[in-house]
Amino acid sequence: MINMSILKSLGLSINPKLHVTVLTGAGISIESGVPIFRGKGSMWEIPEARRLAMRASPPWNNKETWEFYEWRRKLVSQCKPNAAHYTLVEMENYFENFCLITQNVDGLHIKAGSKRVLELHGNMWKGRCMKCGKIIDLPETPLKTLPPCCECGYPLRPHVVQFGEPIDNKILIEALKASKEAELFLVIGTSGVVSPASQMPILALENGAKVIEINPNPTVLTPYMSLSIRGKAAETLPKLWKSFFTD
Ligand code: OAD
Repeated sequence: MINMSILKSLGLSINPKLHVTVLTGAGISIESGVPIFRGKGSMWEIPEARRLAMRASPPWNNKETWEFYEWRRKLVSQCKPNAAHYTLVEMENYFENFCLITQNVDGLHIKAGSKRVLELHGNMWKGRCMKCGKIIDLPETPLKTLPPCCECGYPLRPHVVQFGEPIDNKILIEALKASKEAELFLVIGTSGVVSPASQMPILALENGAKVIEINPNPTVLTPYMSLSIRGKAAETLPKLWKSFFTD
């Protein structure tokens, strides 16, 4: 299906100065083995995940919350970045103005080698101190003690945005700026139902970007897209990237 220059068909041409912004969601990691959040194949189909998640509670720096996160961290520790993650590293290396925005907390973009990543919802490999505000790397699983503690002695919470919590302002401002400035915006593997991430492709469109969605299923964003490609991220993104260099 991707057998022509998709960029040209959208009136764009490949060059390192093209402003490119990418938004990823759980779908980009599913071929790595990380379950998504909604629908078939979601994390909530796993009874153990449901059981542990129900015990996690505010203020999120307790043992029960960490037991849920340790379950997720163990699962993700066995997962490797896939071809879609690596293609985004190639894109970052090619484009001078490239920004990767992700809703994922699995850390797989960074593991693949992406450098400029705006992790809207945080990162499960970090903990945050609710007393001194320090963010601590926690790369090992299992952790020695639950909850893990900050250098100041206070129990850490996972550095992950919970439902209803605000996104870090600095990250949000940067993500909105990159969305506004984009000439090409890719939306990969997100259902597009969680705000403010879901508004970013629309902001890009309103500011003149061409927006391409990659998803095996239609989403609420599909009707607005310049182009929707039905396919799995790890298969489709490398092909799309190759097509940019096809006449
Ligand atoms: P969802 O689980 O809502 O959506 C995953 C999307 O991936 C769906 O649209 C699927 O059709 C699509 N998908 C499935 N397989 C795919 C594949 N192989 N390649 C590409 N796409 C595929 O996940 P998100 O949109 O990321 O928030 O969810 C947004 C937020 O909701 C998450 O970040 C999380 C959750 O609450 C927090 O953790 C704070």
